[in-house]
Amino acid sequence: MTRPDMNALWMPFTANRHFKRAPRLLVSADGMYYTDAEGRPVLDGAAGLWCVNAGHNRKPIVSAIQQQAARLDYAPPFQMGHPLAFEAATRLIDMAPTGLTQAFFVNSGSEAVETALKIALAYHRVRGDAGRVRLIGRERGYHGVNFGGLAVGGMAGNRKYFPQTLPMVDHLRHPLDIEKNAFSRGIPAHGGELADELEQRILTLHDPSTIAAVIVEPMQGSTGVILPPEGYLQRLRKICDKYGILLIFDEVITGFGRLGTDWGSNKFGVLPDILCCAKGLTSGTVPMGAVLVKPEIYQAFMDGTPEHVIEFPHGYTYSCHPLACAAAIATLDLYRDEGLFERAASLASPFEEAAHRLRSAPWVKDVRNLGLVAGIELETRNGAPGQRGLAAFLKCWEMGLMVRVTGDTLAVSPPLIISEDEIDQLFSTIAGALAAIE
Ligand SMILES: Cc1ncc(COP(=O)(O)O)c(C=O)c1O
Repeated sequence: MTRPDMNALWMPFTANRHFKRAPRLLVSADGMYYTDAEGRPVLDGAAGLWCVNAGHNRKPIVSAIQQQAARLDYAPPFQMGHPLAFEAATRLIDMAPTGLTQAFFVNSGSEAVETALKIALAYHRVRGDAGRVRLIGRERGYHGVNFGGLAVGGMAGNRKYFPQTLPMVDHLRHPLDIEKNAFSRGIPAHGGELADELEQRILTLHDPSTIAAVIVEPMQGSTGVILPPEGYLQRLRKICDKYGILLIFDEVITGFGRLGTDWGSNKFGVLPDILCCAKGLTSGTVPMGAVLVKPEIYQAFMDGTPEHVIEFPHGYTYSCHPLACAAAIATLDLYRDEGLFERAASLASPFEEAAHRLRSAPWVKDVRNLGLVAGIELETRNGAPGQRGLAAFLKCWEMGLMVRVTGDTLAVSPPLIISEDEIDQLFSTIAGALAAIE
């Protein structure tokens, strides 16, 4: 394949000059594999970008999108509707954690987060509790790249150019404690008490009656697979309940089978008031996200305004997009018909075994795993954070495997259709790559 002219594209979250010197171009995909521009198969160890949970080029999803494009290409979502939007919402709510009853559609994880934060702030206001204006996030949290998500997020590198995001935000500490929990299998034993920091430090500092919501990812994915310690999320839930604070779970990664259950909420047995999802909702095929809420939140908006008035002045041109709705319905059908979440649960144990075999590989400082996700944290090269991680990522690519890298942590999150042989192939390729780098 001739190389395209790459100058015009400013690539997102990419070292543009480095990439354009030695591009990694994907030209097609099927099942567990990409094909690159040289015609090489590349095992997808990252489900694209944590999203292609059903695997690539799945016929029922592809044909649903094709047929929908020919039937109804676009319909405005403001003061208008189309049947598929209602069907997609019903299907999503039917499989949502019990107790979440309405879905608001958006087009990405970032938009889901902005929407959730706005719902939380507006909810308190429509109930006459307008003093609740503070939002609490967590260090090393990733909630997308828009201003709200950036403010509650805790990735220092993403925030450095934007010191003036949202005011009235504070952060909990993250629960990663390698000293105590290194090489934990599944949920780490130590650190559940870190949730008490919400009550002991944040609430005393700010006055609980000013806090609108706490937002956390049940598992912090993008900053290197940080799992909630035993009891941590339960404790957060209790403290939020005690002080009338909304708990938002950002399940953009943990939704749709990633942890070996349908939702992270169900994995940990904690129901949030508001849940953000995206990615796996359409298995990455068409951009789509959603915010799910408890009935009392939806009802507060309905009760708070006269019937002819728009209750929540928020939405996007492409909310409820017909192609996205068609893709979502076909994807949810496929998850159900092929039992893919159950499959993820049954593969979790061989996946864990294979991941932890990396303990003896060079540079490996920690392995963390749950369901079909693993983080492999490497020793940082002297004075050069991220360099060894990048070298390992590039070596994996060279050896026919695509993973994610964040700093010095490799993240593995394959499509849920992966076989046991492919799991072995995936981790032995990583072992080979680690042996080959400096
Ligand atoms: C937990 C979480 N929230 C939000 C986002 C942002 O999603 P998007 O890139 O679709 O805007 C991501 C993306 O990885 C995520 O992992």
